[in-house]
Amino acid sequence: MNFQKNFLWGSASAAYQIEGAANIDGKGPSIWDIYSNIPGNTFKNTTGEVAIDFYHKYEEDISLMKEMGLKAYRFSVSWPRILPKGKGEINPKGIEFYHKVIDKLIENNIEPILTIYHWDLPQALQDEYGGWESRKIIEDFTNYCKILYKEYGNKVKYWVSLNEQNIFTSLGYLLKLHPPKKSNMQTFINVNHIANLANAKAIEEFRKHVPNGLIGPSFAYGPTYAKSAHPKDVLAMENAQEINNFLWLDVYARGEYSPLTINLLKSIGITINFQDGDKELLKKGIPDFMGVNYYSTATYRHITRKVANEINNQKGNTVQSDVKELLTDKLFVPAKNEFVRLTDWNWVIDPDGLRIALRRITSRYNLPILITENGLGAYDTLEDGKVHDDYRIEYLKEHITAIKDSINDGCNVLGYCTWSFQDLFSWLNGYSKRYGFVFVDRDEESQKELKRYKKDSFYWYKKIINSNGEDL
Ligand code: BG6
Repeated sequence: MNFQKNFLWGSASAAYQIEGAANIDGKGPSIWDIYSNIPGNTFKNTTGEVAIDFYHKYEEDISLMKEMGLKAYRFSVSWPRILPKGKGEINPKGIEFYHKVIDKLIENNIEPILTIYHWDLPQALQDEYGGWESRKIIEDFTNYCKILYKEYGNKVKYWVSLNEQNIFTSLGYLLKLHPPKKSNMQTFINVNHIANLANAKAIEEFRKHVPNGLIGPSFAYGPTYAKSAHPKDVLAMENAQEINNFLWLDVYARGEYSPLTINLLKSIGITINFQDGDKELLKKGIPDFMGVNYYSTATYRHITRKVANEINNQKGNTVQSDVKELLTDKLFVPAKNEFVRLTDWNWVIDPDGLRIALRRITSRYNLPILITENGLGAYDTLEDGKVHDDYRIEYLKEHITAIKDSINDGCNVLGYCTWSFQDLFSWLNGYSKRYGFVFVDRDEESQKELKRYKKDSFYWYKKIINSNGEDL
């Protein structure tokens, strides 16, 4: 079997990572504007204040997409650009900007995939009631969604509700790596439950306003492996699967938490804070597709089975969590997988893991899948206007082959968005960890002229798109 005729060969980005124009045309501050300006929070104190200036350069970037033959472009809308205070007064310039981007994409036969929330919460809501820690956010988020549905619903078919809820909740409330930099397991689970409710409400409203559209969340899916066939390691792997994966996937796809997840949490003293009506609301949030951001798999062992020489051979620089012990260590412990390679930032490279991810979702939920992110972060070198990124080509080729195999296995994959089209700002790794097909000439020290250069992978992906994945 081959890729379906209208397979969405795409690429992805997020507002804070590309737009820049942080204080321009009426945009309000987001939690990331504030957080990245506090020294020590990001790599070399980099921010997205200018990023790659997509706000002013979107036409140039979209013509590059056209030249490549890109079929879909996933971007996010900045909530504080639409609603500077998170609610209340709408910023007409913000509304207009995304109309221009969407129109330009459509004019060039590129399907827009709109992400509603990619982490840049309006700071005003954080200040007023603690952002995701309060149920008040459900109403404000729903109102923001409704504005987008009414404005863009007749132009945009594919929508992503929350980007990587599992990452922004765990890094923000457990690992102290994202705003608001807290570490408390119960708070993390409370916040996550509220985000589940907001996600479900957004989908419920979507059905009313965009009846012909398709919507789903983007989940950062790291399938779990057992360190060995020792039954205790397998149980640890299954525990990790409940806590790291099903805690989100089941709620999205089935509208309820798995009883095993609830009990595992209970065993470490954590409860899910249900109120009247929550269970019913979650059932209304079943998506049209599961969005999957895939980068790596994770291996686990039982706590009593100590194995020497665990993970660590990192070259790339990043901001690290100082949280040493997690409650979940009682249930499973991360272990090294000697069968996979690692990136310079110590991320596991495992193309078969993508096939496993797609198969596990299909087997458990039987939902269509949109791959909303996948890519290789690497150091690139610009020489005579060229970037020879054969390592990126190899990475993408292996992952596309894995998708093809999963389609043959019986998975329904709607599309593949690489991360990313242009090089962009990485939340914790500054500007030298590059993912794009288009090199953007800037670094941590200077934004230079932000000139764009096509990498070798640009021409390679163009060929893949043109042959609908045949010419791998
Ligand atoms: C995903 C996010 O977690 O991974 C992106 O949705 C992010 O926004 C990407 O940039 C790559 O992560 P990093 O840390 O390498 O930039």
